[in-house]
Amino acid sequence: MSTDDHPTTDPTSPAATSRPRPPALTRRRVLLAGGGTVLAAGAAAGVDRLAGGNGSLGLLGPDSTPIGPHSPEVLAAERARTRTGRVVRRTLTPGPTTLDLAGRQVDTWAFNATAPATEIRLSSGDNLRLDLHNQLPDPTTVHWHGLALRNDMDGVPGLTMDAVAPGERFDYDFTAPHPGTYWFHPHVGVQLDTGLLGALVIEDPREPLAYDVDAVLVLDDWTDGLGRSPKAILAEQARDGMGSMGSMSSGGSLSATGTATRAQPIGEDTGDVTYPLHLVNGRPPADPYVVHARPGQRLRIRLINAGSDTAYRVAVGGHRLDVVAADGFPVEPVTVDTVLLGMGERYDVLLTADAGAFPIVSRPEGKQDPTGLAVLRTTDTARTPRAEANELDGRLLAYTDLTPTPGATLPPGRPDREHDLSLRMADGGRRWLINGRTYADREPLDVRPGERVRLRMENRSTMFHPMHLHGHTFALSRGARPGVRKDTINVVPRQRLDVDLVADNPGQWLVHCHNAYHGELGMMTSLSYVR
Ligand code: C2O
Ligand code: CU
Repeated sequence: MSTDDHPTTDPTSPAATSRPRPPALTRRRVLLAGGGTVLAAGAAAGVDRLAGGNGSLGLLGPDSTPIGPHSPEVLAAERARTRTGRVVRRTLTPGPTTLDLAGRQVDTWAFNATAPATEIRLSSGDNLRLDLHNQLPDPTTVHWHGLALRNDMDGVPGLTMDAVAPGERFDYDFTAPHPGTYWFHPHVGVQLDTGLLGALVIEDPREPLAYDVDAVLVLDDWTDGLGRSPKAILAEQARDGMGSMGSMSSGGSLSATGTATRAQPIGEDTGDVTYPLHLVNGRPPADPYVVHARPGQRLRIRLINAGSDTAYRVAVGGHRLDVVAADGFPVEPVTVDTVLLGMGERYDVLLTADAGAFPIVSRPEGKQDPTGLAVLRTTDTARTPRAEANELDGRLLAYTDLTPTPGATLPPGRPDREHDLSLRMADGGRRWLINGRTYADREPLDVRPGERVRLRMENRSTMFHPMHLHGHTFALSRGARPGVRKDTINVVPRQRLDVDLVADNPGQWLVHCHNAYHGELGMMTSLSYVR
């Protein structure tokens, strides 16, 4: 083995990421590197296991080759999707624009000059043909968050497509898969923390839920054009890290609940970025978005956390919430007072509207920032309510409260393959790592088509990470019966959390922390189908 092949056992060593890696690294060399890591980590007592997916169930033969985004397997999977024959055409033009936030003029980037973008709504099986025309000064893409779509349309530069250069176009063309609440955003740099985001709703032609009003609420943390720019925040984190947080120990033992408590369900350090405003559907509390309904009507509210560094706790004053879907997939209804959404998560809730005007509050979890506000209004007379709700301190939804409906349950079974994902901070927060590596230096998590795969996530840091897998909806692994289906799941400090998936959508798929800054500072890897 050349020195190039020797992985470092110290994940905080600069050598772990600065070591140049040839782009055309062969599978054999990756495997040798992985094997070396296992031995080295096993030899050092007390050092985290950095097995990088090459644990007992992880090893693949040296002859395996990645199934790329343009492979016949990807085309075959697309052809096998059920189609309605209907075509939905849209154009998205990302570009610089000026938004009016309750009278403040804010320079930012947005799709078609609105933030969030005009919602895209279509039915399961419809064909979306979308013309992306990049008017930004930077390259960009659009990623379809949560969709089990064809891999070459997933919008990840360098993995599934080339970034679209300024002035250039890209034609998205794919079949809409499972019904539910999804969203879209670029997958380049920290563009997500500008106005470049929008909701994508896939309707079920046989919708089992009954409701009168369908409201989509996009929650977003806003700094661009008001406070520091996302690029400046990223540069500062890359230069200075997390300040005092950087010195905190990342040792300690793991457990199923980690450091979660009732008062701090995702731990103590819930975000590093201070936002001047938190928006709901692009509107600040001074000029809130209003959901109109009549008293007694049944509402479906689709909550989407499109923030970059903020988890939101959401409640509707005077109402309880029946949670009916998580990350697009249906669950048996559970009644709670409040839900907490990490970045990238979605919940659909039903409620029966009372008479009056009620605050829909999105409170930044664990932050001192001002709260986000929308209003549910069913009568003309009521005034705008304050951004407060006792329900925020009531019964909070937990993942373990949720059971998928029979049709949405991942069939029980034992994993064919297991991959560990050890999540940690390095260099005082200048870098965030998966299995001791940044994305540029990653060891892909190999899977074969058809396998059942378990991802074993361990949060070895003091901050929560909303971990997101592209192209699949995994199941929370718990006992004999698989739990709630999700594509984004909060892993809290010191927590060990397993998720299971069926490898039924071939290609190359990103796995990453949906904190936009953690992702850019390295906390991403890929789930790589191989043949
Ligand atoms: Cu919202 Cu990599 O995705
Ligand atoms: Cu993170």
